[in-house]
Amino acid sequence: MTTPHAKGGMADSAPIIVVGSGIAGLSAALAAVHGDDARGIPPSDVLILTTAGLEESNTLHAQGGIAAAIFPDDSPDLHTHDTIAAGDGLCDPTAVDILTHEGAERIRELLDRGVHFDKDQSGKPRRGLEAAHSRPRVLHAGGDATGRIVELDICRMIRDHPRITILEDTAVRDVIVKDGAVEGVRVTDVPSGRTRIIPGRRVVLATGGAGRMFPFTTNPVLATGSGVGIGLRAGAQVMDLEFYQFHPTALALGEHFLISEAVRGEGAHLVDERGNRYMPSVDPRAELAPRDVVARENYRRIMAQNGRPVFLDTSGIAAQQGLGHNKHALADFLADRFPTIDGYLRAHGIEWSDDPVPITPAAHYWMGGLRTDTHARTSVPGLYAAGECARTGVHGANRLASNSLLEGLVFGHRAGLAAADDPANRGWDDGRDDDAHGCILDHGNDGIEVGTIDDPTHAAPSTAMGGMTPPPTNPDESLRDLMWTGVGVLRDADGLGSAREGLRRLAATIPTDTALADTALAAYACATAALARTESRGAHARTDHPRTDPLQARSRAYVLQGAPR
Ligand code: SIN
Repeated sequence: MTTPHAKGGMADSAPIIVVGSGIAGLSAALAAVHGDDARGIPPSDVLILTTAGLEESNTLHAQGGIAAAIFPDDSPDLHTHDTIAAGDGLCDPTAVDILTHEGAERIRELLDRGVHFDKDQSGKPRRGLEAAHSRPRVLHAGGDATGRIVELDICRMIRDHPRITILEDTAVRDVIVKDGAVEGVRVTDVPSGRTRIIPGRRVVLATGGAGRMFPFTTNPVLATGSGVGIGLRAGAQVMDLEFYQFHPTALALGEHFLISEAVRGEGAHLVDERGNRYMPSVDPRAELAPRDVVARENYRRIMAQNGRPVFLDTSGIAAQQGLGHNKHALADFLADRFPTIDGYLRAHGIEWSDDPVPITPAAHYWMGGLRTDTHARTSVPGLYAAGECARTGVHGANRLASNSLLEGLVFGHRAGLAAADDPANRGWDDGRDDDAHGCILDHGNDGIEVGTIDDPTHAAPSTAMGGMTPPPTNPDESLRDLMWTGVGVLRDADGLGSAREGLRRLAATIPTDTALADTALAAYACATAALARTESRGAHARTDHPRTDPLQARSRAYVLQGAPR
């Protein structure tokens, strides 16, 4: 149902559709239903669509904390400085300033609303120092269960809100675009497999990450890259897809559970299979060198050991904490400081105060994603993106630890308000050039080069016999192997080229209307971007181009060939 709207579009009485229920989606929903009186933004109704239950999300599994410059010896400007330094030349300083300034505001709001962050004895938020932060500014909740506690606390606010409708077990298959603007989403009811269209002219994609493109990942099963796949098919620009952060320390067994960087922060060491510590000979910061440096070294050592894992040894924690050789004291410390990791390892038979923990690098966080302006607007009118599936410009080529939940919180909020402020989704049509109403992506004058990606899911390769290429027995496993071998921690032109070709052939065998087709498209786009960047920068490490090239110090955007414009 639509009514004419003053900006020249049609006002939309349908709720804002939020796809995903991690911190970015929840933040968008809360912002939209509250509106902003001071800015004259009215509250809107919201419909949240989520593939599983509301609480299930990447955020729920996040052990790490949230960085926020809320302490007297800190400032958002210092936080900006650290974030830009980590981003290796590709951060958007305006977006980073928004992240750090509004991040502090958003965190204070969560504290006021009673979110259970860890506090010290005087009741003030407890804070930690992490690698590459110049101040201790990382808040935790439940020790190493920050994501879980924040997610559950915010979900309670969401479930209680009368203007929010939640549709669980509902997978979004497509964003429908007509005449260059969003018209709704096509969804599948997961239990029945039935598909239907939900109309709406304002859609926020907050679908999370894409770690499941790789065989080793810290991400949960829903992190399939669907947001990037769906957004590309809807005609949205993507940016910085070549930058994928690999976490150095995931458990080398089972589901590759994350062993937080904070464990190394407390003094744990990395050792090879003979028990030799190696990081001090690689970097003066040893185990606390930047994440990409440690991940690369772990990967090299594992390759040199014919694929057998390296280990995390907690005896260094005993030394750093002054516990001597008392194993019980170390066991108590680990259980108290890292309850989630401790519980997981014990449940899997690893007594980590005694046994070295087998470790592998694992896909952790995608810096790239759907390109947005500072109001979370993509290049498609009516389509917004926030959280890990978005590329806001705050991470550049490498994300500073504990900035991801913050990004979801800040830019999810902005997405919700931008959608609520734009009932007809046509804010950028009005010709005003102020930041609040002019979508930078539409102006095309920011000097960003926009390349095209051919759509591998529409290719129809034939065999020498003239038939369709048969699908491999296990296409998702083939996809992950191609990504790890060619588009993983260390890359070169040969590996990237053959992974890309393999992905193209594989994608052509996958039925287009499936979640795996979106993952294949996202993976293919990632490989394409990585092949094009002939330098090493941040998390993108090319062994054939080991140096950073100052001439490539800019982000690159892509659109899908043949997608609606
Ligand atoms: C970690 O705790 O090591 C992960 C946190 C993050 O990725 O920011």
